[in-house]
Amino acid sequence: MTTLITGGTVVSATGRSQVDVLIGGETIAALIEPGTQPFGTDLRVVVDEVIDATGKYVIPGGVDAHTHMEMPFGGTTASDTFETGTRAAALGGTTTIVDFAIQTPGQRVQDTLWEWHGKAAGNCAIDYGFHQIIGDVDAESIKAMRELVGEGVTSFKLFMAYPGVYYSTDGQILRAMQQSAELGSLMMIHAENGIAIDELVAQHLERGETSPYYHGVSRPWQLEEEATHRAIMLADVAGTPLYIVHVSAKQALEQIAEARGRGANVFAETCPQYLYLSLEEHLGAPGFEGAKWVCSTPLRSRAEGHQDELWKYIRTKDVTGVSTDHCPFCMADQKELGRGDFSRIPNGIGGVEHRIDLIYQGVVDGKISLERWVEVCATEPARMFGMYPRKGVIQPGADADVVIYDPQGHTSIGVGKTHHMNMDHSAWEGFEIDGAIDRVISRGVTVVDKGSYVGQKSHGRFIKRELSQNLI
Ligand code: URP
Ligand code: ZN
Ligand code: ZN
Repeated sequence: MTTLITGGTVVSATGRSQVDVLIGGETIAALIEPGTQPFGTDLRVVVDEVIDATGKYVIPGGVDAHTHMEMPFGGTTASDTFETGTRAAALGGTTTIVDFAIQTPGQRVQDTLWEWHGKAAGNCAIDYGFHQIIGDVDAESIKAMRELVGEGVTSFKLFMAYPGVYYSTDGQILRAMQQSAELGSLMMIHAENGIAIDELVAQHLERGETSPYYHGVSRPWQLEEEATHRAIMLADVAGTPLYIVHVSAKQALEQIAEARGRGANVFAETCPQYLYLSLEEHLGAPGFEGAKWVCSTPLRSRAEGHQDELWKYIRTKDVTGVSTDHCPFCMADQKELGRGDFSRIPNGIGGVEHRIDLIYQGVVDGKISLERWVEVCATEPARMFGMYPRKGVIQPGADADVVIYDPQGHTSIGVGKTHHMNMDHSAWEGFEIDGAIDRVISRGVTVVDKGSYVGQKSHGRFIKRELSQNLI
């Protein structure tokens, strides 16, 4: 199958150009100056399909480096399967996800990776990779890290939060970081002081402060800043590159920016919810409504200005990439578990379908450039996680993962509108986006056409990722 995308503006992390894109099979074959005949023939008459992208942006397929399909958490399981979640991702212009295999105490790390392979294989609309969560750092799991790197799982997530669930002590984190340094892999840290948070949670509940708002109040920015600083110091001692996931506090980002300023290999990820939503308006919504937005790290106060500062750090590049931390739970039977006790509300927000649109809004609002949009949504996540230049860029030899984005289009987000995630509500209900996904191509195959899913659940393949240390 050969496809020629003509007339569009191809946008990369470093610039934009009016070139046609020739796709041959699963990869990009050539970028062609319009009006030229590089193969001695008018390609429009010999290719299988010509796509007219006049007036549209042609961008690399999105790479969402942080999703949790079917994640067991808080006494329930995230409501999107790999099938429903990757279909929604495709509809939103994402052509690769990196999800998390999860080891908990008593399990062999390798077994849990195979368990996650079993969930995803044959069920994904788009390509996928795995990070490994290590919930029980001991001699065995440290040894397993080497084996996983050989399997293309080259990044590991540890938690400073959630004592009794996924939590690791500083000693365990240091040991895993030392192994990561030896392997050249990337350490991902959920940076919140979980021990102190649990104390505050107990105090709020004792006072009868049980509503979702107190989820945010019991996880103050100081405990994100402190844990971020601690993670940076531990990584410094161990000598491993460090990626702090889902940063929401401006003070945590100050720590990261300061460390980067002195040359540390420290990187930050944020998510659309921290750029747009807030403690006051969302977690503080009347009654139990705020449960929709319970996630960790929590949404931060708009009065304190975290959201604007996070956009600033996207511009300065101290935020490396924007992922969704897609971890959806339904209100009816899942978030309900925490009515009367916010600490029992399953943590997570669904958003895998809306990241490209929501961050494009930053372009419309003049907060970031078109190029930075592409960079944080596709190029940097691909690079950070060992998939570049196969993913994250439109250039000869790369996988033909392409999104045609219509800046004249309009997207109304909400249940019954653009909502294909397996959730009974949308955290983004009512958001109006200037811009729309027009077509999505995954490895040369159109999976979304004019807003409709036309793909197949068996299309997505596992991506064996390379080590990323030397890219940094
Ligand atoms: O609330 C969140 N973030 N849920 C998913 C698990 C995690 O910590 O990433
Ligand atoms: Zn986390
Ligand atoms: Zn997560």
